[in-house]
Amino acid sequence: MRRLVAGNWKMNGLLDEAMQFVAELGENPAPEHVEMALMPPFTLLHPLREALSAKGIALGAQNVYFEPKGAFTGSISPLMLRDAGCHYVILGHSERRHIIGETDDVIRTKLLASWAVGLEPILCVGEHLKEREAGKTNDVLKRQLAILEGTDSGLPLTIAYEPVWAIGTGHTATTAQVTETHAYIHEELNRLHRHCRVLYGGSVNPANAESLLACPGVEGALVGGASLKADSFMEIVQAAAKVAA
Ligand code: 13P
Repeated sequence: MRRLVAGNWKMNGLLDEAMQFVAELGENPAPEHVEMALMPPFTLLHPLREALSAKGIALGAQNVYFEPKGAFTGSISPLMLRDAGCHYVILGHSERRHIIGETDDVIRTKLLASWAVGLEPILCVGEHLKEREAGKTNDVLKRQLAILEGTDSGLPLTIAYEPVWAIGTGHTATTAQVTETHAYIHEELNRLHRHCRVLYGGSVNPANAESLLACPGVEGALVGGASLKADSFMEIVQAAAKVAA
């Protein structure tokens, strides 16, 4: 299984910066055994499509609305993402769960709508610090993964474990925590008859990428801040290649 290193730019990136970023990635950036993907803001999907595909980098979006079309001012449909060249769509990111208030029910509806047009969802799961401290991590993950219950296990899916307390904080989970939690997620996915990649996300950077990516059950990384600069993003990609070799 090829490891995936995906950059989630969140609400960052203007056209000039994005074009420069892609130029700085070089001619043939994706090493053997590693898949690269970028999730820029919606405004950069069309402009980046050709440049990324020429470099073998997959394109993804950070969110989607579940209706196919109509009077939903400000929303983007799954088919629009396909039309813009997206393969992936991030769903259930903690910033959408906790800032925007997305519920598991809404995320499930988005999951089904994304599959309906052939997108591959990257479903994010993860606990708050209070939940981890109270020993509830697995309960939270079980509940968040339960939206997969009864869905077709043949449909494409990637999971990203992103502990909320590790996102944008510089507090990375320890390798022991990552190993233990990924083992639980894989166990739960097996129970749900799902065999898919599980990425780790949360303050991944060039210094910690290799040790995180080497943890059993970690099949890639979802990178926020460190994906905004081509050199740090590429260092993480190289770490993934080293571990995969
Ligand atoms: P950071 O890498 O900035 O912590 O963000 C992680 C993340 O939320 C990726 O989706």
